[in-house]
Amino acid sequence: MKFHAIAIDGPAASGKSTLARTLAERLGLVMVNSGAMYRAVTWKILREEIDPADTAAVIRLLDGMDIHCGHEGSVSNIRIDGTDPTPFLREPEINANVSTVSAIPQVRERLVALQRDYLKRTHVVMEGRDIGSVVFPDTPFKIYIDADPTVRDERRSGEGEIDSVSQRDAADSSRKTAPLMVADGATKLDTSALTISGVVDAAIGILGKQGFPLPQHLPAEEPPTPMRWIYWLGWMSFGAAYRTLFGLRVIGNENLIKAGPVLIASNHQSFLDPPLIGNLYQTEMVYFARKTLFKGFGKWLYPQWNAIPIDQDKPDTSSMKAAIRKLKEGWRVLVFPEGQRTLDGSINEAAPGIGMIAAKAGVPIQPVRIFGADKALPRGSGKISFARITVKVGPPILLTPEEFKAYSNKEGYLALTERIMDGIKAL
Ligand code: DC
Repeated sequence: MKFHAIAIDGPAASGKSTLARTLAERLGLVMVNSGAMYRAVTWKILREEIDPADTAAVIRLLDGMDIHCGHEGSVSNIRIDGTDPTPFLREPEINANVSTVSAIPQVRERLVALQRDYLKRTHVVMEGRDIGSVVFPDTPFKIYIDADPTVRDERRSGEGEIDSVSQRDAADSSRKTAPLMVADGATKLDTSALTISGVVDAAIGILGKQGFPLPQHLPAEEPPTPMRWIYWLGWMSFGAAYRTLFGLRVIGNENLIKAGPVLIASNHQSFLDPPLIGNLYQTEMVYFARKTLFKGFGKWLYPQWNAIPIDQDKPDTSSMKAAIRKLKEGWRVLVFPEGQRTLDGSINEAAPGIGMIAAKAGVPIQPVRIFGADKALPRGSGKISFARITVKVGPPILLTPEEFKAYSNKEGYLALTERIMDGIKAL
């Protein structure tokens, strides 16, 4: 059997371990923290009171060292001469000396061989500095993650650790053997502004694009359910107008879930938005429209366009219930989590309603981000200008039944809302 390796590289405190651990659980792989192996050897050297800068003495010690690497469940472990050094690996002396030790080629050679051994036994997601460049250069699944130095410093001190992240980065990036770098074929992911779940969603999106066999199979094609004429008339007229007036451009179409129920979460810029999203699809979908529109001709027309009336002034549980019911019936439903249109193009705070709808409906979530509609038809102006509109479709957020369950309370709705907003912001 051929095993898969996912390589995750990046500087200190960029979020590698958390990402690798979560991917291991979600995708059924073993997570290997290669940094822990370098830390373990450093621990042994310091315990034997050897100066890490005395390369000859380090190599002598290394030759007689018994290093055993295994795994328990989905997480790797290590023993050196029969002892598990895990409790000591994040001590300040180790942080201060691990870069010196890991720059010694003989240390790397020994540990790289042990890292490659994992792939003979199991699928792995391995995180470190040289996994995509040296350990598994042939794997197609490579992510390079990074974050602003200030964010990384804060993360480490927030964990109560004394660690000079920038010094370690400088040493790890400038050493001769296997320096930290973006490996050939790696996709970069900046985690500065993302929550942990946001990082995991983005990473799963990247892996899907790199061809990783993700467990949840998504139907690729849309079934041919023809639109009713009145829906088609709106769909066709808005679509044609948007393409000619605003040069409508769609990026990320390959991410689009074309069949089955989907909760589409989009930022909200203008009245142009609902048909913009509707035009991504070849079949009908469900929208929300403000209650006040359901008057006169609108009372007939909006229901024809599958609009659910919503009261914008107060939380409207009946419309949320209607959305959940529609999703359960297999429809795709568009929700603007922010509720209101933006005034300046930026993304506003979301209300937790989307998290509740998502958690209760239990369907895939598709983050979408609109650009330029705020210029084409600004809120409050009513005047059209010929600004270019772009719609970006993000990788779907696919949750396991356990995750849906974990999100099924008030805090859960908030957390899921944040996760969905991260998906939109990442676009
Ligand atoms: O990922 P970490 O911060 O725990 O890693 C500790 C040190 O180990 C890091 O500063 C450099 C070294 N390291 C390495 O040289 N190559 C790897 N693949 C992983 C870690």
